[in-house]
Amino acid sequence: MAEAPFGLLAELTHRCPLRCGYCSNPVDLVGRDDELGTAAWCSVFDQARALGVWQVHLSGGEPLARADLPELVGHASGLGCYVNLVTSGLGLTPERLAGLPGVDHVQLSVQDAQEAGANRIAGVKAFGHKLTAARAVRDAGLPLTVNVVLHRLNVDHVAEIVALAERLGADRLELANTQYYGWALRNRAALLPTREQLARAGEVVAAERARSAMEIVYVIADYHEAHPKPCMHGWGARQLTVTPNGDVLPCPAAGVIDGLGVENVADRALADIWHTSPAFEAFRGFGWMRDPCRTCARREVDFGGCRCQAFQLTGDAAATDPVCSLSPHRGLVDAILAGAPGEVEHRAVVR
Ligand code: SF4
Ligand code: FES
Repeated sequence: MAEAPFGLLAELTHRCPLRCGYCSNPVDLVGRDDELGTAAWCSVFDQARALGVWQVHLSGGEPLARADLPELVGHASGLGCYVNLVTSGLGLTPERLAGLPGVDHVQLSVQDAQEAGANRIAGVKAFGHKLTAARAVRDAGLPLTVNVVLHRLNVDHVAEIVALAERLGADRLELANTQYYGWALRNRAALLPTREQLARAGEVVAAERARSAMEIVYVIADYHEAHPKPCMHGWGARQLTVTPNGDVLPCPAAGVIDGLGVENVADRALADIWHTSPAFEAFRGFGWMRDPCRTCARREVDFGGCRCQAFQLTGDAAATDPVCSLSPHRGLVDAILAGAPGEVEHRAVVR
C-alpha cells in the first residue's frame, strides 16, 4: 500500500487575470461552470486530511478569483492543514488578505525585474499589483516566497530579480526554469533559453546565494541536462493534484497522458483513488520501468524522470524520459534545442 501523501495541490480554478505564455495549465482550460463548488472542495480537504495530507496549496489559475476563498481557507486551516496561497497577487490587497485568516504562507508570482518586461510576459499590467500584494503579505507578518519562472526573455535578469525579491521582503525566492507542459509546451520555441544564457544564470545564482540572506531555490532547465529531474519525487509518492473540475491526478500535468484512467472526486473517495486507481498505480515504484531505467543506478535518484514529458515527446508514458542521455530518444530533445526561437502566444482567457 502506498504511503500517505503529505501535499495536496488544490487547483481551485483555471480563471486568472494573467495570460502568461509559460503557464503549465492545460491548453483546454476548465471554465467556471465546471468548477467544484464550495461543499465539494471542503469534502476534498476533509478526505485529504484523513488520508494524511497536512500541506494544502491553494492554486489555479488565480485562487482569488473564487468568491468562496475565505471559506475554503478557513476549512482547510480548521482541519489543521498548513495553507499555502499560490497567487499572482492581483486583487491581494491588505483588506482581502485580512479576510483570509488561516493562510500560513503566500507564494507570489513575479514575471521579471522591470515593469515593462514583466507586464509583457504577463500579457497584462500586473507588476504594480504585485508590489502592493508583497507589501500586504509582509505587513500581515506572513512568510513570503517569490516565484519567478525563468525563460529566454528573463533569464538574463537573474541578479535584478534577486534584488527585487529582496526589496519585496521575500523569505524565499524560487527561480524555476520553465517546465514544458500545457501552454508552456505550446510556447516552447519562444521560451527555451540558450545554453549560454543558462551558464551565465547559473553563475549569477551561485554568487547571489553566497551573498544573500534570502533562501534562493533554483530549478534546473532539464532539457539542457544529461539526466532528468526527479519529477514529483516519484509518481504518486508524495503529493496529489485535484483539478478545478475534481479530477485527481498524480501530477498537475498528468491529464495529458492518454488512457491513464483518471478518476474524479465526484465518483470515488479520494483515499481509494490515491491507493488503487489505475492512474496512480501506473508508474508507482520501479516495477513499470524498462531498460535503461530498470537497471540504472540513478533510478532511485530521478525515478526515471517525468512520465508526462516521456509521453509528450515519445507518445509512450512508460518510456525513459527523453531528457536522459541514456534514452534512445535523446535526439528528440537535442533537435528541439537546435530549433529556431518562436513567438509567445499568450494563455487564453477562461471565464
Ligand atoms: Fe534516470 Fe532512467 Fe536515465 Fe537512469 S536511465 S538516469 S533512471 S532516466
Ligand atoms: Fe507529470 Fe512529471 S509532470 S510526471
